[in-house]
Amino acid sequence: MDKPFIPALRFHALTRIYDPVVRVTTRELTIKRRLAEGLGDARRILDVGSGTGTLLGLLRSEHPSAEIVGLDADPNIIELAREKLGAGIQIVQGNATAPPFEPGSFDRVVSSLVFHHLTREQKSSALRAIREILVGGGELHLADWSAPHDPLMRFMFLGVQLLDGFETTRDNVRGDLPELVRAAGFQDVSETYRQRTPLGSMSIIRGQR
Ligand SMILES: C[S@@+](CC[C@H](N)C(=O)[O-])C[C@H]1O[C@@H](n2cnc3c(N)ncnc32)[C@H](O)[C@@H]1O
Repeated sequence: MDKPFIPALRFHALTRIYDPVVRVTTRELTIKRRLAEGLGDARRILDVGSGTGTLLGLLRSEHPSAEIVGLDADPNIIELAREKLGAGIQIVQGNATAPPFEPGSFDRVVSSLVFHHLTREQKSSALRAIREILVGGGELHLADWSAPHDPLMRFMFLGVQLLDGFETTRDNVRGDLPELVRAAGFQDVSETYRQRTPLGSMSIIRGQR
């Protein structure tokens, strides 16, 4: 049986409006472009929790000679992404905690706005699994909600917590993601980018296998 997961906007019925909602509430393209542009020379890139495929499309433009693969637990959102992207990008159904790939399959793994859908245990388990499927020296670049810049950002993030739940978002707002990445065995872990959004603070965390 498929493992349970939280859909993109918590309820399956809202998945169709995900793109316009996220576009205006998260400064989506700014952080996704940063992610896509910050990968250096990448040959095989996996996007964990690829959703509607916006980041996959940006990765394809930025890294035209790389092989790009998406992974998502939700078959409905995979269909939306395939409609949006057309042919050429493989999207696999599976769980971030047990990605169905051989060890050392990718030299970059990216993920955007997925880890706040995972419990702390699932976050750790997904990070360890991602480390396994990276080659030695390969990099993880993870974008998600993070420790607030100031009280206003903390207050605005309550909107995300009311929608997505308090349990899975707590590690993010406490600023625990870099430590979890480190604890999963990644090296040189650092925050490479930070931005304010209408719904709170977001960061990109980088770590190397
Ligand atoms: C908020 S959406 C983000 C989608 C996309 N990465 C973006 O930045 O727009 C979260 C995505 O993670 C997927 N997801 C949630 N839990 C997952 C899990 N355990 N394994 C794989 N995908 C998961 C959801 O199906 C959804 O597509």
